[in-house]
Amino acid sequence: MTDAPPKRPHGVLRNSSPPTGCRTDNHGDLRAGLRSFTSRYGEEIVVRRATSQDTSSLCAMYDTFAPKQSVQGVPSAQDDQRRTWVQGLAKERINVIATAADKDAEGAEPLVGHACLLTMEPGVRAELLIMVHQDWRNRNIGSAILEVAIELAQQARYQKLWLVVSARNTRAIHIYQKCGFELCTQVDYDIEMERLLT
Ligand SMILES: CC(C)(COP(=O)(O)OP(=O)(O)OC[C@H]1O[C@@H](n2cnc3c(N)ncnc32)[C@H](O)[C@@H]1OP(=O)(O)O)[C@@H](O)C(=O)NCCC(=O)NCCS
Repeated sequence: MTDAPPKRPHGVLRNSSPPTGCRTDNHGDLRAGLRSFTSRYGEEIVVRRATSQDTSSLCAMYDTFAPKQSVQGVPSAQDDQRRTWVQGLAKERINVIATAADKDAEGAEPLVGHACLLTMEPGVRAELLIMVHQDWRNRNIGSAILEVAIELAQQARYQKLWLVVSARNTRAIHIYQKCGFELCTQVDYDIEMERLLT
């Protein structure tokens, strides 16, 4: 999937609504809490808030996520621990997912990316977790998920989002900075970043 030749130009814009958050120039549908766009490889991607019905698809994404334990120890390589972790995330107030229109073997639309806002101080501060499946990276999915997560956090009246990222994770740092996150502190390779929402 990652090496598929481009079928159409990067980012086919389907309407010309003004951007609402960080870079939105290749997001086709810019409605609040929703993005739909065509990836550089011609895949139709939808980004939306998750519901409880998405939990089994979320587990399926993390079952095939690789390498395991690569982001601060998650997702776990142990099946039971990993599923318990996903079920815990699914109970958080805001989860955002990306799905691709290509049907999988079971005829379902695969879940290809996920962000969760883990409440740190209710209504004030949440920690951001974001993961895009390794077969679907560099298609603007992470950026679109991040943009929707920020929008939903603003709607929920959070004051700030916070995260820790490895200094080696330059791709993640790039999308965080693109979406308005700023460096707070750095201790060795751990960088703390924050995005004010007010
Ligand atoms: C970080 C992550 C969420 C990004 O998702 P993604 O869908 O690949 O990101 P996007 O396609 O939206 O954007 C990638 C951007 O990074 C840039 N990029 C790609 N590789 C890069 C690299 N090695 N260093 C810096 N920037 C890089 C791309 O050019 C693109 O920039 P642009 O939008 O300005 O053109 C994804 O790589 C991931 O899930 N990684 C593993 C889990 C993880 O590290 N999560 C974050 C934990 S803090």
